[in-house]
Amino acid sequence: MSGVNEIRSTFLNFFAENGHEIVSSSPLVPRNDPTLMFTNAGMVQFKNVFTGVEKRPYQRATTSQKCVRAGGKHNDLDNVGYTARHLTFFEMLGNFSFGDYFKERAIELAWTLITREYGLKKDKLLVTVYHTDDEAADLWKKIAGFSDDRIIRIPTSDNFWAMGDTGPCGPCSEIFIDRGDHIWGGPPGSPEEDGDRFLEFWNLVFMQYEQVTKEERVNLPRPSIDTGMGLERMASIMQGVDSVFETDLFRHLIDATSSALGSGPNEQTMASFRVIADHLRSSAFLVSDGVLPSNEGRGYVLRRIMRRAMRHAQLLGAKEPLMHRLVWALVREMGQAYPELMRAENLIEETLRLEETRFRKTLTRGLAILDEKSASLKKGDMFDGDVAFTLYDTYGFPLDLTQDALKSRGIGVDQASFTDAMERQKAKARESWKGSGEAASEAIWFPLREKLGATEFLGYETESAEGVVTALVKDGQEVASLKAGEPGALLLNQTPFYAESGGQVGDTGVLTGEGGIRFRVTDTQKKLGDLFVHVGTVESGELKLGTALQLEVDHGRRSSIRAHHSATHLIHEALRQVLGDHIAQRGSMVAPDRLRFDFVHPKPITAEELARVEDIANDVVLENDEVTTRVMGVDEAREAGARALFGEKYGDEVRVVSMGRTARERGANALGWSVELCGGTHVRRTGDIGLITLTGESAVASGVRRIEALTGNYARRHANETMALAKTAANELRTSIDDVPARITALMDERKKLERELSDARKKLAMGGGASAGDGGQSNVVEIGDVKFYRLHVTGLPSDELKSLVDQAKAEIKSGVVAVANTTADGKASLVVGVTKDLSARFDAASLVKIGVPVVGGKGGGGRAEMAQGGGPDGAKALDALSEIQKAIAAGA
Ligand code: ALA
Repeated sequence: MSGVNEIRSTFLNFFAENGHEIVSSSPLVPRNDPTLMFTNAGMVQFKNVFTGVEKRPYQRATTSQKCVRAGGKHNDLDNVGYTARHLTFFEMLGNFSFGDYFKERAIELAWTLITREYGLKKDKLLVTVYHTDDEAADLWKKIAGFSDDRIIRIPTSDNFWAMGDTGPCGPCSEIFIDRGDHIWGGPPGSPEEDGDRFLEFWNLVFMQYEQVTKEERVNLPRPSIDTGMGLERMASIMQGVDSVFETDLFRHLIDATSSALGSGPNEQTMASFRVIADHLRSSAFLVSDGVLPSNEGRGYVLRRIMRRAMRHAQLLGAKEPLMHRLVWALVREMGQAYPELMRAENLIEETLRLEETRFRKTLTRGLAILDEKSASLKKGDMFDGDVAFTLYDTYGFPLDLTQDALKSRGIGVDQASFTDAMERQKAKARESWKGSGEAASEAIWFPLREKLGATEFLGYETESAEGVVTALVKDGQEVASLKAGEPGALLLNQTPFYAESGGQVGDTGVLTGEGGIRFRVTDTQKKLGDLFVHVGTVESGELKLGTALQLEVDHGRRSSIRAHHSATHLIHEALRQVLGDHIAQRGSMVAPDRLRFDFVHPKPITAEELARVEDIANDVVLENDEVTTRVMGVDEAREAGARALFGEKYGDEVRVVSMGRTARERGANALGWSVELCGGTHVRRTGDIGLITLTGESAVASGVRRIEALTGNYARRHANETMALAKTAANELRTSIDDVPARITALMDERKKLERELSDARKKLAMGGGASAGDGGQSNVVEIGDVKFYRLHVTGLPSDELKSLVDQAKAEIKSGVVAVANTTADGKASLVVGVTKDLSARFDAASLVKIGVPVVGGKGGGGRAEMAQGGGPDGAKALDALSEIQKAIAAGA
């Protein structure tokens, strides 16, 4: 028994036999926990159970949990590839007691599993305990028969485990194996403890406290147990290999990398192969749980992981993006155990390909910066740490790459300023990590959920019903009544009101009762998964606990919400058909008057593609097929091809919404054309949607597009308004709607022609010495010695037309100097001087302009020897400026 799958199932079965419920892994993005970046341990999904606010039907559980440690409190990123045991993504096997058994039973169970089931030899094992935990030390002596030298007391945080800055915590005891003196390293607590010889593979946490804030720590209601065993580490032990990277799974990933690159690892390149294999796993699992690379929060950590791998791909000589070509191998290795990988395969490939294509551009730029900034340095100099940090942060260059690149020239890197910059960045990152945006769990709902159970939802079948008030809440407190005029929230034993979820907004409506009671519901929200909270105001009467009410959902609004929700499904499927299978929903908003749908796609969608999406979706509307909903097992639903959201943990039973007849009739999908896991409310037949109009397409984040659309009357009104606009335009243009585009093109052409003519006419007027231009009707050309001087004063010409005037004049006189002064409409002066080529050795246009400019009160002026310009505020002195220029020519002629 040494395969990863067997090790996992032996663990789970052992604890199941010992009264533990097998619970499936939660997603990597923790739900309802704004304090944590990624699920970093098995206990995360049980956090509220430990603290007592949430109750489960079991008191013992066991899991195999997906974990990522690459950001936040637990971060192994920088170690990966360089030790035998660190990984950013790993599976954690754990057993949990929620106030049931404690230290003794936990140690007994652990000892039995590792020595009997896994068959590890006692003489290779040793443990650590928290330095003050005599009880644990004694238990190890008693249960395992260890002598004192095998029970090492550790005074540091290594033996006090905490989930994050807040949350459950407690002293812990870690189990180590000695893998023999052929590997460097010493036992825990010794100076050589960082070596790989002594490997920690199981941590037993004696959960006793909850860290409420940084300062405040309280006791948990009852002492509990949380354990975590690294599956990959256990596999390396069971398979008798020195590092997790030598286990079968990693060997296969490294082989896939070798064949993609055309060469395998050697001593120098091994670290890069390992980094790529580990980072491939964390990247792929994060994407399949709904994270995408970005510049903040979780997305930023994912981007750093990806880029670190990509830099190593380049170090290995990859000429083309590499990572996306390895995804198939990962799916082959882990897709069975984690089907979400298979479902997200296209999305993972597309995301990696796009990120690597982009990063290759910055990688080259980063190397160029490195060269440029180090060009003037010589042997013994220090490279600026701030620049090294920019390379690290912006271009994805780890410090060691920069150091490596400079080492051969004997240049070091100023590490102090690098670290400073890093610290500043970290402080900024901490600031920007304000949590996941989900509201912190509101403690009031836990006891209510406990007392009242789930709200029964009637809203799929009906929009009016009767219900009884089971709880009233005002300002976060339970109250016995709400009086007229008071805002508040209430729970009912059952309700037809849909609570906001899955992008669909909550219902509104009225609740009425005997004695003129009237409560207006302005929103309905869902708490703890199945508690429906009606938010609003008492309009009349007094609302008390136990009051029976008539519940009426705003029917018109709900109908319109239904239409928009069903349309969202049709647009989703149509997008897949037009753009490809990588389309993954990132979010949606379904309101009574509009919908929007966000999804992963690397580039803008063309007008033609949008038109096809709209056509396809409307074809299904016109089929007027029945919309069916079925409740079925989640696996059955997935087999039937139902689309689900990445990163969503679904219950065992799911609701499947399907529509579209043709696909069913053609046998393409027995359920329908669009098949989705969905808890929302939908139209009865697709024809009820009426019409779908796409009104917008835009980017919301890199690689994420947003489509906006309208249905039914909103779509019709939008179409009518657009038509009205077209009619107005046609009227203004005195033509028919059909001819509007041609008419506009003709008008634009005509306008261009007129502009040209106007400009020519102005110039002609200016050159012709008419009354408003030139020097009072005198000839514009003066002979100064052998030099022709063409002087011209114009008024009100746009300044950008002067140069072409000068060119024209130069052509006319063939050889000579031209000076044009313009008094602009607002009374300023602009000057342009030109010198024909043959005279450029004698006269410099720029110098001549500089003589005229001060006369009109300006400064500077300049240009080339053959054409220069300048100007000043005093338009009245334009003629004087020309005279000064003339004098200068006379002096030089
Ligand atoms: N929660 C403990 C750990 O992650 C078991 O080490």
